[in-house]
Amino acid sequence: MRKWILALTLLLPGMAFAAGGGIELLQANNDLRDKASLQAGAKLFVNYCMGCHSAQYVRFGRVGKDLGLTDKELRENLMFGAEKVGDMMTIAMDNKDSAKWFGVIPPDLSVISRARGVDWLYTYLLTFYLDPSRPMGVNNLVFKDVGMPHVMWERQGWQKPVYETVTDAGGKTHEVIKSVELIDKADEAKAEQYKKDVRDLVNFLDYIGEPAKLERLDLGWKVIGFLFIFLIFAILLKLEYWRDVH
Ligand code: HEC
Repeated sequence: MRKWILALTLLLPGMAFAAGGGIELLQANNDLRDKASLQAGAKLFVNYCMGCHSAQYVRFGRVGKDLGLTDKELRENLMFGAEKVGDMMTIAMDNKDSAKWFGVIPPDLSVISRARGVDWLYTYLLTFYLDPSRPMGVNNLVFKDVGMPHVMWERQGWQKPVYETVTDAGGKTHEVIKSVELIDKADEAKAEQYKKDVRDLVNFLDYIGEPAKLERLDLGWKVIGFLFIFLIFAILLKLEYWRDVH
């Protein structure tokens, strides 16, 4: 048993590394309890992502309730069409059209945070870089030859790849992309803000991946609170019993 646990702990970091395709993932450090961040993320999601991606297992009304929005705020901030509060977050784009435009169908993002992990999503959204050889003009550090355009480029500024020379086992040298950097240094302040935006967006994707997680976190604190109060009574009871013994 112990050997198994040891083997697993040794494997885990390797798996995280493999998921990034050899690139170390950036840390999202998102906080599901931060309602303001979730609200900002939801807004970015409907504005920038729902043109192509749905979240078909998520209901607008549920999001509004969990994020502490009134129906009016929900309608004004997150809903633009003729949707009703009880509707799912689906989109109008036809799969045939998207396959024609992008070569692939943009996947539903309801549970993408569970499939990819928050750090991968954070890194993905931060590492689009210019690549004229690609149909969309961009490529991505953790999703090679991605079919998605850099939809939030105006919020970040364009990036270019930074190369590194590596020597393979046969003694040959190759140029590989190590990281990305801003092309125009004047975009630095904007790019810093973009990191915060992406953290909010990833936070929202994390939340929709498992809406019950919010309740679970909340319940966890309540249980700890209960146990603490119980502990006080247990101590009082113990003192009471032992008074007679002494
Ligand atoms: C113009 C259409 C379009 C928009 C807008 C768009 N995407 Fe995409 N997205 C795509 C396409 C197409 C793919 C599939 C790429 C591929 O498989 O090569 C994709 C793939 C992805 C993936 C990878 C899914 C996987 O296979 O693991 C994620 C994550 C993602 N998009 C997130 C987002 C987020 C977050 C936004 C909003 C900021 C967004 N997308 C906006 C078209 C879009």
